[in-house]
Amino acid sequence: MGSTRPGRRGPAVADWFHSVALRHAGFATELVDLAEVGLPLLDEPRPPQRGDYAHDHTRRWSETVRAADAYAFVVPEYNHSYNAATKNALDYLAREWHGKPVAFVGYGGVAAGARAVQALLPVVAALGMVPLNGSVHIPFVRQAITDVGRFEPAPGLEENATGVLDALLRLTVALATARPTAPIG
Ligand SMILES: Cc1cc2nc3c(=O)[nH]c(=O)nc-3n(C[C@H](O)[C@H](O)[C@H](O)COP(=O)(O)O)c2cc1C
Repeated sequence: MGSTRPGRRGPAVADWFHSVALRHAGFATELVDLAEVGLPLLDEPRPPQRGDYAHDHTRRWSETVRAADAYAFVVPEYNHSYNAATKNALDYLAREWHGKPVAFVGYGGVAAGARAVQALLPVVAALGMVPLNGSVHIPFVRQAITDVGRFEPAPGLEENATGVLDALLRLTVALATARPTAPIG
């Protein structure tokens, strides 16, 4: 879950997607909230490629990311891109992301998080990740959240999300055997 601001809608969307993943049952899942992770703006003195970290918050984040075989990024659209906390969290690490698959759940206003996901593609490619060709997109997210903060998916969205998880699982299995042990170059 990439959004961190007070009053954010991210938890409603992420809780819903996580519940779909639990029903899907293809993955042992962990919901990670960047607001709880609480990374400061990148404050490591050395580039991340060697994994030689100076701070405990980086070591904890490294362990969280390293432990996963696949990711689903739940990201809001901010100013025709994704939010800064997500970029910061990506930039902190390198090897931990490398060679692993990632799916996207984008949400926002009229553009349904499409520009957020498009903007993520070159960034995850730079990290050596393998983005799934197919995402979940949620337009006008505010209107889909009830007074008690629950996300009500539009008809067909759960099937869409399940299809994305199916494809992510296939990609994860395929990449597990092909994954390089170290970044190239
Ligand atoms: C700083 C900011 C910029 C935004 N820019 C866009 C935008 O460019 N396109 C869009 O569709 N929605 C935009 N929105 C609407 C958000 O996508 C929507 O408020 C969403 O709930 C934000 O996610 P969050 O509530 O988890 O922070 C913006 C919202 C914020 C706070």
